[in-house]
Amino acid sequence: MLEVARMTGGAPLRGEVRAAGAKNAALPLMAAALLTSSEVILRGVPDLSDVRFMAEILRHLGAEASSPEPGTWRIRAGEVSHRTPYELVRKMRASVCLLGALVGRLGRAEMAVPGGCVIGPRPIDLHLRGLEALGCRVGLESGVVSVDASAARGAEVDMGGPMGSTVLGTANLVMAASLTRGTTRILNAAMEPEVTDLCDLLRRMGAAIAGDGTSVIEVTGADSLGGADHAIIADRIEAGTYLAAGAITGGDVTVLGAEAGHLAAFLGRMEAAGVGIEVGRGYVRAAGRPLRGVDVVTEPHPGFPTDLQAQFMAVQLMAPGVTTVTERVYPHRFMHVAELQRMGTDIRLDGAVATVLGGRPLSGAPVMASDLRASAALILAGLAASGETWVQRLYHLDRGYERFEERLRSLGADIVRLPQSEMPSSLRSED
Ligand code: EPU
Repeated sequence: MLEVARMTGGAPLRGEVRAAGAKNAALPLMAAALLTSSEVILRGVPDLSDVRFMAEILRHLGAEASSPEPGTWRIRAGEVSHRTPYELVRKMRASVCLLGALVGRLGRAEMAVPGGCVIGPRPIDLHLRGLEALGCRVGLESGVVSVDASAARGAEVDMGGPMGSTVLGTANLVMAASLTRGTTRILNAAMEPEVTDLCDLLRRMGAAIAGDGTSVIEVTGADSLGGADHAIIADRIEAGTYLAAGAITGGDVTVLGAEAGHLAAFLGRMEAAGVGIEVGRGYVRAAGRPLRGVDVVTEPHPGFPTDLQAQFMAVQLMAPGVTTVTERVYPHRFMHVAELQRMGTDIRLDGAVATVLGGRPLSGAPVMASDLRASAALILAGLAASGETWVQRLYHLDRGYERFEERLRSLGADIVRLPQSEMPSSLRSED
């Protein structure tokens, strides 16, 4: 059933909300469970459609995956098939992180190449180049990549690309190398906290990995890996989104469980904009509206995350002055701009740079979510706008935010989720 969110803006959000486990850690960690025939228990896993879908793919590959209680997943991959079909991969691009796990476990894999998505082309050339550097034979036929790792051995592998490193590409290489004999040195490795979380799980499973969190990761292959019990890190992007919701409404929001060290670039920009930021043990708090505009440039970690670009742009709309948003990770990731323009904003797009004229009042409007982070940004804008905003295609939001509108309501937001049939047809852009 298609659903929409309806909100009336104006209420400052106040209170506490607890960060969920990180989606972008959960997905590769679930894939990593394929590296052993023993049971892997993951805790703090968010309840998201992407997570349920990853479990479905693991089952398709032959693993048992169940969630005996909320937040906990038990995965046991006794027998694993090496084939991942296009019907599954195309629905969730992140399923590409199964490639490294299959190569590590089985020494071979076949996977349909995931297509691009609305945020732009999503090539996997760096993933494949990395596997080739390990000595894998990589072929592509009819849209299916096949990898034969029978001659693979530890090697020096450079994961740097035109946009910097690749997060899931690094995850794939680490997983493959952890069961490939010899020592692999990954240069230009992604430094995202989600990669470190994966390495933490793999170490618990018996892998020898060092250097994660820096640009050089060293992995010494083991003969086999065992089971583990691991709690996933808090979702820095979700935490940043709630802090942005506090700032855009001139409220006072504390995110419990948020890891400030994972959010340094974002918190730095919020502070520069005049939002009051307080960091304590196990929480981050944002109070007050942005007072001035600040420019922002997205970059791989530890730079400003592309996954908070749309939400921060919404915050920038509140601050007087002209600012720019430059996308250096996904130069086309600006689908939210056209929808924000429907709310009376002045944003001009020139290639990978958006120029935002802040300080103008926002007016509620029916808008359309185009991707996960864009949907969150539209909801934030709706919470700051006068009148009613309707956000269609809420399923994008549900891929990455657990009970988003319910938790915003607990902070005082006037927002409800409704079946699309309850949205006046005059406002709908699709049925
Ligand atoms: N790239 C290449 N070749 C490759 C791989 C990537 O040129 O082989 C380019 C991409 O086109 C992009 C840049 O490198 O311009 C970075 O892409 P990356 O591979 O790092 O992205 P990803 O690993 O596929 C993860 C997150 C994304 C997040 C990016 C960047 C997961 C499941 N996804 O994707 O999350 O935007 O890293 O931080 O971890 C989201 O949560 O909304 C989301 C899209």
